[in-house]
Amino acid sequence: MLRLEKLVKTYKTGDQALKSVDLEVPDGQVLALIGPSGAGKSTLIRCINRLVEPTSGNVFLGGVELTGLSSGNLRKERRRMGMIFQEYALVERLTVMENVLSGRLGYVSFWRSFLRKYPQKDVDEAFRLLDRVGLLEMADKRADELSGGQRQRVGICRALIQDPALLLVDEPTASLDPKTSRQIMRLICELCKERGLAAIINIHDVALAQMFVQRVIGLRFGAVEFDGPPDALTPVVLTTIYGEEDWEATIDKIDEEGDEPEAAE
Ligand SMILES: Nc1ncnc2c1ncn2[C@@H]1O[C@H](COP(=O)(O)OP(=O)(O)O)[C@@H](O)[C@H]1O
Ligand SMILES: [Mg+2]
Repeated sequence: MLRLEKLVKTYKTGDQALKSVDLEVPDGQVLALIGPSGAGKSTLIRCINRLVEPTSGNVFLGGVELTGLSSGNLRKERRRMGMIFQEYALVERLTVMENVLSGRLGYVSFWRSFLRKYPQKDVDEAFRLLDRVGLLEMADKRADELSGGQRQRVGICRALIQDPALLLVDEPTASLDPKTSRQIMRLICELCKERGLAAIINIHDVALAQMFVQRVIGLRFGAVEFDGPPDALTPVVLTTIYGEEDWEATIDKIDEEGDEPEAAE
């Protein structure tokens, strides 16, 4: 269980990115965090693993209070949180395998990681994960030789090899075409289910969120405006979150696209 209590973030610039957010995410639950640009989505997930230091409030993960941990203990707890980024954040000149294994850096000793020596069981697990996401043949390719969709699959493997309890996912599809976006969202959600992983997926594409998750949180000006199932996201609710737009058109699009069969990438 992840629990946020009265989480507040005010940046030094005076920007109030989060205004007292309360949120509970049960083990194994995957939720989408939607909201317009600047709503505070990235700030919220970064406050959970303290890449951004919350101004006040508390974060608990599985009974441990993350806020207030010393840096040594925080490092240990961060292993339980995998992160997936919009721009993949791969090391371009390293191979796919090396990028995946870098997810284990929190576990291997300094000298082992310096010499890039990973235990055989980590290498075996990396191969298993690459196989699962359809990239086994790419293990020796350099990251900069991959397509966007393939890069994000590597990013997913790197997060999963940490064996986390929670995935924090920041706009995983923002740099991808619509079809690849859907494949990546589906893959993330399937993997969470297979592994009983909880996830918070920041995503500005409402239709995509509605297709794949059972719970949606709508953020606006740093406050939770909506918390419910995707079919409760009516045009009125969407207008409260995003402001005026033709939401009927968006919702129609989902009905049309919902069950469309897809070929593999
Ligand atoms: N490093 C920062 N310094 C100052 N203000 C920031 C910083 N990061 C984000 N903000 C501000 O905080 C608010 C929320 O931003 P962000 O969390 O990035 O929203 P979102 O991910 O929903 O687009 C915005 O007003 C943004 O300008
Ligand atoms: Mg963001």
